[in-house]
Amino acid sequence: MSSPSGLRTPGTRVLLGISAGIAAYKSAVLARLLKQAGCEVRVVMTDGAQAFITPLTLQALTGEPVRTSLLDPEAEAGMGHIELARWADTILIAPATADLMARLAAGMADDLLTTLCLASEAEKVMAPAMNQAMWRHPATQRNAARLAEDGWRLLGPASGEQACGDVGPGRMLEPEAILDALLHKAPEDTPAPVTAPDEAPAASREATGLTVTITAGPTREPLDPVRYLSNHSSGKMGYALAEAAATLGATVRLISGPVSLPCPEGVERLEVETALEMHEAARRLAPASDLFIGCAAVADYRAERAAEHKIKKVEGEEGLTLRLVKNPDIIAAVAAERTAGTGHPFVVGFAAETRDLEAYARDKLARKGLDMIVANDVSCPGLGFGADDNAALVLWRKAVGQDGASPEGDGIDQEMLAPQAKSRLAMAVIRHALVCLQARRHP
Ligand code: C5P
Repeated sequence: MSSPSGLRTPGTRVLLGISAGIAAYKSAVLARLLKQAGCEVRVVMTDGAQAFITPLTLQALTGEPVRTSLLDPEAEAGMGHIELARWADTILIAPATADLMARLAAGMADDLLTTLCLASEAEKVMAPAMNQAMWRHPATQRNAARLAEDGWRLLGPASGEQACGDVGPGRMLEPEAILDALLHKAPEDTPAPVTAPDEAPAASREATGLTVTITAGPTREPLDPVRYLSNHSSGKMGYALAEAAATLGATVRLISGPVSLPCPEGVERLEVETALEMHEAARRLAPASDLFIGCAAVADYRAERAAEHKIKKVEGEEGLTLRLVKNPDIIAAVAAERTAGTGHPFVVGFAAETRDLEAYARDKLARKGLDMIVANDVSCPGLGFGADDNAALVLWRKAVGQDGASPEGDGIDQEMLAPQAKSRLAMAVIRHALVCLQARRHP
């Protein structure tokens, strides 16, 4: 199915599944694009999908009868559902509704499309599309994670204005972007298992020769010899990034605050406690790095002066005033000190938010002068701080064109990475950053 260049060969047999979302009208364009790209396309629609777009439209575009029912003797006589399941190289569902995702995640086979998915060993790809609250709902997030674990590749959803008037994640990716992701190896679109970090074949060690510096974990700001200010960061995401980068062949330096994680194999760890120590290490290592990733939860403030001796309770005093001063913004400083002209290193920040994910991420990308930002909603149960899974919205600045032309629009692209194990998400983030880094160096 793939050529060595990463481009899929035309002739791929695509079973296009359409479920009941308003984005179904875009599936007609997708079917056409797939045909134009040389794919053989057969369409299966759920009952609800037919309320949005007619089978006749898809039949006219693909030149093949459209299947809608499992219990259709005439259609089954033509090509039985098991035969159809075996025929497909790829099952692509676009749009995939919350309901369909739930049924697939549960392994149900209560209509033709879900039955085919269960019966087929084809590559499986879906483009979710739904209202933003439905996408954010813990049940949908759980189902997305389960589907990714089962081998589904989830493309999107994109974030933006929705048909219902809401704004947020849940829009189906545009047909062109879906086709692009399907026909090319596109590491950046893949929350689903492409290759687990511990399984990356030698051929995919695309970071060989690159140096990656990562900050991870919390910082600890002393108040006195026994007390400190800190936060709940476990360091898991930063450590997963370090492991993924090392697996891809990079020389990795991990500047780590106090955590209880072992150092990943092949990674050089520098242990620090305070934000000032982390800042010093980052300043030293960043200029010689190709990629700098700030994943640490750096304390924004420290005590102006840590007491030399343990602070004592004062009888009769109900309160205690501590004067805090601001810590340096490490990643903003690294970004500001990049080598003029070369934009070296490529700087990636993280943002943990509890609301307005995209707006805050855009603001941080601009304010801190970052090249890319990975934002996650830490209010989702089971994701983010301390958890083993994470989901993320990635925003990055597009590279200038070969002719030096500025990118179109606001120059920022974005991609939603569905909930998945931090190890897999880390691999997707590193690969995404590498693609952006190469695009910048070789426009
Ligand atoms: O402003 P906020 O803390 O949300 O920004 C998060 C991003 O900035 C992360 O990449 C974090 O590692 C980095 N950061 C930093 N130094 C600070 C505060 C945050 O490098 N003092």
